[in-house]
Amino acid sequence: MYCFNDILGVSDEINKVKAIGMMACQTSSPVFIYGETGTGKEMMAQAIHCKSIRYKKPFVAQNCSAIPENLLESTFFGVSKGSFTGAVEAEGIFEAVQGGTLYLDELNSMDISFQGKLLRVIQEGELRRLGENKIRKVDVRIIASVSEDPEILIKTNRLRKDLYYRLNVIRIDIPALDERKEDIPLLVNSFISKHNLKLQANIDGITEEALKAIMKKTYDGNVRELEHLIEGAIILKQKGIIDSCDLNIKENLNTSLKCRLEIMEKKYIKEALIICDYNVSRASVFLDIPRQTLQYKMKKHKIML
Ligand SMILES: Nc1ncnc2c1ncn2[C@@H]1O[C@H](COP(=O)(O)OP(=O)(O)O)[C@@H](O)[C@H]1O
Ligand SMILES: [Mg+2]
Repeated sequence: MYCFNDILGVSDEINKVKAIGMMACQTSSPVFIYGETGTGKEMMAQAIHCKSIRYKKPFVAQNCSAIPENLLESTFFGVSKGSFTGAVEAEGIFEAVQGGTLYLDELNSMDISFQGKLLRVIQEGELRRLGENKIRKVDVRIIASVSEDPEILIKTNRLRKDLYYRLNVIRIDIPALDERKEDIPLLVNSFISKHNLKLQANIDGITEEALKAIMKKTYDGNVRELEHLIEGAIILKQKGIIDSCDLNIKENLNTSLKCRLEIMEKKYIKEALIICDYNVSRASVFLDIPRQTLQYKMKKHKIML
């Protein structure tokens, strides 16, 4: 389990995030975490649990996309014997977590109608196992996470507004690594120590040039991607100092503002097209630009339908 000391960084952004996380330890109110993949959402959830009064009780992380729609109710709320042919008595995740913290990862991939049932259980603090009338009290702290903008998730009906408002009591937005590059040197050094130990390697450090190349790169996979980059270099090198040629960096991205804006524009247009079922007219309304402009931009970015 991770604690707050494991969440490394020197940037104001990460310190702000940690400060909010620490305040969340003093209550059992729900926490809503928003951050791209690999930004440390699950680390944060674990750190909050470990520093809260619930630390001796279970912490369970459940990825919401991993449960098929028809099993959501029995998985979360449990089943009573004979509720359907062959059903055996089983408690659900909520009962298993009793008194502890349930981390609902990728909440937005949970079936929208089940989100309504989840809201009811959270609000009332009680549930009924599938096929049973008995009401059972559950005391579970919820920490939920999403990796896409909550506003867009609500607008596109992938996140229930009422559930969002219930969970958004303490909101933690973890910025992308590209927005806090000053955290990189510290992270790199800690990953070198960590993987030296794990891989029984003898890496002494990293050259200035290699660190420069690392700082220059962009990270769609955030801290997780950076960690894998270092781990890969250690596996190949085993001992000595990591040089830029030891790094598996293919792209050498320009750091100019114009270049970055172009990347963001392409990403956002793609998102809009997905949201609008690849209908260009609707996407242009969504983006509030003329249809021709969108078509021009799609051509420029080589976005094909
Ligand atoms: N601030 C950080 N300091 C140290 N390691 C980090 C940090 N953020 C992320 N990591 C590393 O990246 C990995 C992925 O983090 P995780 O919490 O699983 O991200 P997410 O849940 O947002 O995808 C962690 O296991 C950890 O090794
Ligand atoms: Mg995760």
